[in-house]
Amino acid sequence: MQPGKRLVGKVAIVTGGASGIGAETARMFAQHGAKVLLTDSNAALGKSVAKEITDTGGTAMFATQDVRDEAQWAATVAQAEKSYGRLDILCNIAGISGRDPKLNIQTTVTAGPRLAEQTLEQWNRVMEINATGVFLGTKAAIAAMQRAGGGSIINISSICGIIGSHANAAYHASKGAVRIFSKAAAIQYAPDKIRVNSVHPGFVDTPMTRPGHSNPEVAKYRLDVTPLGRFGTPADIAAGCLYLACDESSWVTGSELVIDGGMTAN
Ligand SMILES: NC(=O)c1ccc[n+]([C@@H]2O[C@H](COP(=O)([O-])OP(=O)(O)OC[C@H]3O[C@@H](n4cnc5c(N)ncnc54)[C@H](O)[C@@H]3O)[C@@H](O)[C@H]2O)c1
Repeated sequence: MQPGKRLVGKVAIVTGGASGIGAETARMFAQHGAKVLLTDSNAALGKSVAKEITDTGGTAMFATQDVRDEAQWAATVAQAEKSYGRLDILCNIAGISGRDPKLNIQTTVTAGPRLAEQTLEQWNRVMEINATGVFLGTKAAIAAMQRAGGGSIINISSICGIIGSHANAAYHASKGAVRIFSKAAAIQYAPDKIRVNSVHPGFVDTPMTRPGHSNPEVAKYRLDVTPLGRFGTPADIAAGCLYLACDESSWVTGSELVIDGGMTAN
C-alpha cells in the first residue's frame, strides 16, 4: 500500500454516488487509487461527479441504477467486472429519509410523519430503498468478491439504526435492519474473506439534511445534542468508509463504525 494511496489496485462500486456522502466517498476512493463505478438514480448529478473525478486524474464511471431492482444490481456488478476486471469493494450508500414534504415541512424538531399518519406506501418505499437495496447489493456482490478472493462491503446505516427518536419510524427501522443484516452477512461470508461492516453517521450536512438544518430551531437542537458542536461533513463519513474499504481493516468485520460527533455517547 502506497502512503496516501490506500486503495491502489482495488475496484469499488459506490451507490448514492451522485450526492452528499456517496459523492464524497467516490471522490475519496478514487483519490486513493481505486477504480470507481458510482451509481445513482440521479443520472445528471452522477455523471457530473464521475466527470469531476476523471477530470482530476482519477478513474471512475457512472451507471444509472435503482437499488431496488435486482436485475440492475446484476448489471452493475457485471459492469464493474467487465470494465475494471474485478470487484473488491461495495459501498451501499443510496438512501432516503422518507420524509413526505407535504406532511413534514420540518418546522419543529419532531420530524414526521408520525406512525398514525404514516401510509404503508411510505413505509414500503423507505424499507425498499434503505434496507432491501442493501440486501440486493450485498447479495449481488458476493460471487464477484469470491472470484476476487475476498472483499469489503460497507453498508451505510445511521445513528437512527442504533437509537430511537421522534423522527420517521420507517427510517429507524430501515437503518436498524441494515445494522443487523450486516452482522449476519459478515458471519456468513467471513470464510470467503468478504468483510461486511456498517457505518453510522450522525447529523451530516448534505442535501438530505439541509431542509431540516435550514430551520434554526432544528439546527440548534441537533448541534446541542452533538458534543463536538458541529455537523459532520461528507468527508468525515467517507474517511470511515475508506478505512473499512482498505486492507488496514482486514481484521474488522461485523462491526459498526459510529461517526457522529459524540452524539450517541450521551
Ligand atoms: N446526512 C445525514 O445526516 C445522514 C445521517 C445518517 C445516515 N445517512 C445516510 O447516508 C446515506 C447518504 O445520504 P446523504 O445524506 O448523502 O443524502 P443525499 O440525499 O445527498 O444522497 C442520497 C443519494 O441516494 C440516491 N438515491 C435515492 N434513492 C435511490 C434509489 N432508489 N436508487 C439509487 N439511488 C438512490 C439519491 O439520488 C442521492 O443521490 C443515506 O443512506 C442516508 O440515510 C445520512
